[in-house]
Amino acid sequence: MTSKPAVLFVCLGNICRSPLAEAAFRAEAARLGLDVTADSAGTGDYHVGHPPDRRAQAVAARAGIDISQYRARQVTQEDFTRFTHVVALDSDNLRNLRRIRPADASAELCLLLDFVPGREGQPVADPYYGDDAGFDVTWADATEGAAGLARHIAGET
Ligand code: 4NP
Repeated sequence: MTSKPAVLFVCLGNICRSPLAEAAFRAEAARLGLDVTADSAGTGDYHVGHPPDRRAQAVAARAGIDISQYRARQVTQEDFTRFTHVVALDSDNLRNLRRIRPADASAELCLLLDFVPGREGQPVADPYYGDDAGFDVTWADATEGAAGLARHIAGET
């Protein structure tokens, strides 16, 4: 039996990159009519329970998407069996996910930009310590990656 695709996006704090990837992917999946679930989490616990960074909320709002109700959480070992795809935003987080991945993990573990032809292996840069313009780059990367991932999942189902 093939399980319904369930995608978890993972960055460090779960307040900038992964909420934007989740929002972009939800929008693209809805556009394509894909039956999927999506969530996001952080490898760190610094911002657990917090809403997305105001700059992330603003860039999503400019695209017509309200992410103000999202709340940060930390990734768990159960996530590797609850989700079919665990998608890291950069290679530091991918490395940490590989380290905590349990032996019975069933999820495919990869980088978001692996789904963008020519950008395989590239990180989505951390915009947290930068300026507002960095969040435009994050949103562009998130939407490009989300579109590629949605195409990948559409091809699997
Ligand atoms: P994110 O960005 O991993 O894209 O959510 C960050 C958020 C917070 C911190 C680092 C990155 N921090 O160090 O608090």
